[in-house]
Amino acid sequence: MAVPYADLQLQYQTIKGAIDDAIAAVIRDSAFIRGGYVDRFERDFASAVSARHCVSCANGTDALYLAMTALKVRPGDEVITTAHSWISTAAMITHAGATVKFCDTDGVTFTIDPAAVEAAITPRTVGIIPVHLYGQPADMAAIMAIAEKHRLWVIEDCAQAHLARFDGQPVGTFGVAATYSFYPGKNLGAMGDAGAVVTKDPDIAERIATLARHGGLVKHQHQIEGINSRLDGLQAAILSAKLPHLAGWTKARQEAAKRYDSGLNQIEAIQIPHVSSGRDHVYHLYTIKHPQRDELAAHLAARGIQTAVNYPTALPFLSAYNRFDHRPDEFPNAFQDQRRILSLPMFAEITPAQQHEVIEAIRSFQ
Ligand SMILES: Cc1ncc(COP(=O)(O)O)c(C=O)c1O
Repeated sequence: MAVPYADLQLQYQTIKGAIDDAIAAVIRDSAFIRGGYVDRFERDFASAVSARHCVSCANGTDALYLAMTALKVRPGDEVITTAHSWISTAAMITHAGATVKFCDTDGVTFTIDPAAVEAAITPRTVGIIPVHLYGQPADMAAIMAIAEKHRLWVIEDCAQAHLARFDGQPVGTFGVAATYSFYPGKNLGAMGDAGAVVTKDPDIAERIATLARHGGLVKHQHQIEGINSRLDGLQAAILSAKLPHLAGWTKARQEAAKRYDSGLNQIEAIQIPHVSSGRDHVYHLYTIKHPQRDELAAHLAARGIQTAVNYPTALPFLSAYNRFDHRPDEFPNAFQDQRRILSLPMFAEITPAQQHEVIEAIRSFQ
């Protein structure tokens, strides 16, 4: 039996009526840009993630850019982030005008090591962007303590962590702002690009909205030079139709992760995902470590099992950051992990039979 890495078509089939109705309603109302569907999704998403304000935008990359620009980062400012993430997290620090400072991960959760954060702080540091990678919260208690001590802002990159919690508190409510992606494969995914910034601060929310809407909230009154980064009505209506299912889908991912854990934890060469105490992992990805990762991936592919590597090159070692001349010994965990990590098929609808297939195929790898 072939097992896909994710199955967006299957998810659509389970809620086809609601999605088709949502799309038809937006077309009927010609509510393509802003309007009631976008307002409703912003309200509902804010409530789902316990945020006071949600400003939607075109994607999770813009969300990072908008949040940092609203915080007025300046040339010379340094922003600390993890060595292990999708490139948007780091690239938007540069595009917002600051300098990226990478920190290693903690070696067990794939998230930023608070000790490395503390060591990376200089008089020019203005903020920290932890990423709740694969769906597991970073150590927000330690990160917030460091931020308070050094008077730094924190923006949480929640692109992979919808509904995750740290010590019972929803991610995205620790820092001054948090960014989300609704890329189709995310735990809450649109049918195209979509993103949002959430914050408890009404002034920041207004600045972000102003920036994202050509620099003005009233047509033809441009207070500043902004950009055009909007969630469109179709995506908003689709996301609203999916939002009531998010908690159930998250639970299904967590149950699937438990099945993988119990099927794989006896296999010596494999490290299953470690979840630190107090962290509610939402398993956007189920990522194992294996010393012969590429051979294992090829073995699974030959049996029709799709896998992925997120990400094959840690950020400091991408060509985009050649200018920093980083060495592997500066980020030993992220560097080692880039050769060992493998993400297995994971989606809310995955069946125990499909998972059994994956587990057996891994067991048969010598
Ligand atoms: C951790 C992280 N940050 C930011 C992004 C950017 O989101 P988007 O693809 O919506 O621009 C993504 C998604 O790919 C991500 O995984």
